[in-house]
Amino acid sequence: MAPPLVCVSDYEKEARRLLPLNAFGYYQSGALDEVTLKENKDAMNRWYIRPRLLRDMSQRSTSTTILGHKVSGPIGIAPTAMQRMASTDGECANARAAARFGTVFTMSTLSTSSIEEVAERAPSSLRFFQVYIYKDREVTAKLVQRAEAAGFSALVLTVDTPSLGIRREDERTKFTLPSHLKIANFLTNDMSSRMNTSAGGSGANEYVKSLFDPTLNWGDVDWLKRLTKLPIVLKGILTAEDALLGLEAGAAAIWVSNHGARQVDGVPPTIEALPEIVKAVDGRCEVYVDGGFSSGTHIFTALALGAQMVFLGRPLLWGLTCEGEEGAYNILNILQQELGSTMALSGCATVKDITRDMVIRKEFYSRL
Ligand code: LAC
Repeated sequence: MAPPLVCVSDYEKEARRLLPLNAFGYYQSGALDEVTLKENKDAMNRWYIRPRLLRDMSQRSTSTTILGHKVSGPIGIAPTAMQRMASTDGECANARAAARFGTVFTMSTLSTSSIEEVAERAPSSLRFFQVYIYKDREVTAKLVQRAEAAGFSALVLTVDTPSLGIRREDERTKFTLPSHLKIANFLTNDMSSRMNTSAGGSGANEYVKSLFDPTLNWGDVDWLKRLTKLPIVLKGILTAEDALLGLEAGAAAIWVSNHGARQVDGVPPTIEALPEIVKAVDGRCEVYVDGGFSSGTHIFTALALGAQMVFLGRPLLWGLTCEGEEGAYNILNILQQELGSTMALSGCATVKDITRDMVIRKEFYSRL
């Protein structure tokens, strides 16, 4: 009998074995030379934890809040496109896992389940909706109305995608969405099947080029704000300058992200970009982070550096691939256990105890 899958990398290895090459390639790859893809992971290990000892650890909790909603841990599900390539129930299974675990599920505009389906199949889940702005503004306006009507609690505007990054693996596999799947939010118009075709390159790239609005600018945050009462989270910020512009534009939260290293290759890993943004924001709104997180110690480090919440995308896809909803739930649970253990062994009974002085750059020790 195969040994049980006990950590994120076990799930990733198994998912690589199970998934067709084009689906695994689409999920896993990053932009160009994938320098940032590797850095997102490597940079985590440049931080060391400074554990504090002999603090009573008998009463512990990982619970926290996001935009006023209580969650069981600072671990949320990041938006990833086309989750039914991973498992039959795709986004619905992922949202159900989030609900069972007690955290937030962020649904991608480019989902293979519809907004209404996810709301119906995971009614008690805390749901955020990730927004792309289409050239045809009515398309985005309708999605926003539907997300509001379906009980989503926030909009996550992805600000780093005027066009799609170049992913060589998708060009090699000529990635398209398998024909039995559709971009489910658009079943009423011809946009549902555009991801199923390509002129010979990456279907995802062609989709974005033909439909997303490349004029995307700060004024569009205002446009979106006027469309909705929901709080707006800006996802894809990597500099203090843009974090401040985001605050000015009225963002409820800044989500530090390099889009899983899928857009600009050569940008910093998010764990390195996080501190300057936390400093610039200075407590005026919540700060989230994603990108390369795969263990409880990584999450601990991000919390120490000032993140309110850590989001994960790919690990949930590996969970869905291997074991469907149960796998997604197991991934959340594994990360929570690992975070809980790191906290207990480092003297932190609650997430508030994970302060800035609990982590230090590796170089510090060689200078002593
Ligand atoms: C991606 C987009 C579509 O493939 O979010 O990264």
